[in-house]
Amino acid sequence: MAMPNMADLARPTSDTRSIGVPPVFIARGLCKSYGGGDATVHALRDLDLDILPGEFVVLLGPSGSGKSTLLNILGGLDAPTSGRASWRDHELAGADEAALTAYRRDHVGFVFQFYNLIPSLTARENVELVAEIAQDPMRPEEALALVGLSHRLDHFPGQLSGGEQQRVAVARAIVKRPDALLCDEPTGALDVETGKIVLSAIARANREVGATTVVITHNAAIAGMADRVLRMGGGRIVSIEANANRCAPEELVW
Ligand SMILES: Nc1ncnc2c1ncn2[C@@H]1O[C@H](COP(=O)(O)OP(=O)(O)O)[C@@H](O)[C@H]1O
Ligand SMILES: [Mg+2]
Repeated sequence: MAMPNMADLARPTSDTRSIGVPPVFIARGLCKSYGGGDATVHALRDLDLDILPGEFVVLLGPSGSGKSTLLNILGGLDAPTSGRASWRDHELAGADEAALTAYRRDHVGFVFQFYNLIPSLTARENVELVAEIAQDPMRPEEALALVGLSHRLDHFPGQLSGGEQQRVAVARAIVKRPDALLCDEPTGALDVETGKIVLSAIARANREVGATTVVITHNAAIAGMADRVLRMGGGRIVSIEANANRCAPEELVW
């Protein structure tokens, strides 16, 4: 397959068929509001976006700009108020709860700021729990090796550092070989050096599992790792930049 011209990818509503790569995620006129009347909060306003298969997208923007809302719709955790959203042949707007649950189970791996591991289970068992309900999982040991934790398989969360626990969470997200790896401030609770290790693990999963990856962050330095950087403001995408050359997390200057 020919590599797409990155300049073309920088336009969110560009007709990607013309460069031969159909998007996996398509949003058109996406709106999400909370509450009603004078108290209505418009979290997303008429947002258009295409995301291509295997892309690594970083989502930047101030607090309250709609980043988590967009990620949650993309991951089938939340439904838009109006507009269209689809992941391949899955309609995400107007889908019922059962369809969204199946979509999440079969296609999406999530990583959040807080690791939410089960304290009474080892690293391997935490990852196994997800592998057991997946259609074509990798072995838990393989997922933990991908994040550099082969030497911590039988440790409990309480015996692991914050960065190690977050890497277990990344292994848990990728063990099902998800189509989409969605990370909401995955380094928010970590120091800089540990954050880089976690981001390396996410970047490696993106490369080796081929999961289309979206990472929300407050840290603009992470942007260098991405294929594209989307900046949000007031429920809209205010800019999109394509990186000609992605750099490794170790090379980032924070
Ligand atoms: N469940 C909710 N109920 C009411 N308002 C919400 C809810 N979730 C988000 N919002 C509001 O929607 C806007 C966007 O929120 P969010 O997507 O979480 O932003 P970000 O992740 O960029 O900080 C904010 O004004 C937030 O207060
Ligand atoms: Mg958020």
